[in-house]
Amino acid sequence: MMVSNIKLRKVLNDLKRRPEDAAKDLKISVTKINNILSNKSKLDFKTISRAVKIWPINYGDFFSFYDDAKLGFKIMRHNESEKSKRIMKRGGKPYYLYKDTVMSKLSPFRPELITELEVVANDSPKNSKVRFNNGHFLHQFTYFIGPVNFYYIEKNRKKVAKMNTGDSMYISPYVCHSFTTRKNKKSC
Ligand SMILES: [Fe+2]
Repeated sequence: MMVSNIKLRKVLNDLKRRPEDAAKDLKISVTKINNILSNKSKLDFKTISRAVKIWPINYGDFFSFYDDAKLGFKIMRHNESEKSKRIMKRGGKPYYLYKDTVMSKLSPFRPELITELEVVANDSPKNSKVRFNNGHFLHQFTYFIGPVNFYYIEKNRKKVAKMNTGDSMYISPYVCHSFTTRKNKKSC
């Protein structure tokens, strides 16, 4: 865990607490707080919890971000993606196969590889095989591979867009949507 004693110093500076004031608030000895500030002792979680409870600060004020792309890039191999496989069901039936793709801890982007497991014989947006979600908070960009049907609800009306390799779409938060495939011979 990236707990930094320097973070405590910053908190005390911001809240205008001298070490003796902080010791009193945190119910620990002045020696202990001085040891923490001079890096002789570790800042323990109990002290952090007490600080968060009594001061207008958050747990995050004591932790550093961990940069997992220090070189500016990351690579994720196919076999790593394979290990993250999980099947999502809709209506009790397998509907999507999800796999992780490369992600950075610092990036707000959360890409994934989705394979549609529901194969449809027609392109009706009212097809009972199509299971819509309620949308979600994240904005969604989708880049399509293969013959995929993209369903969405616009003004309470179900719509479908027939997508193919190279096509892409964007939806804003809470647009109900779904995906199926028109054929899926090479299902993985
Ligand atoms: Fe989505």
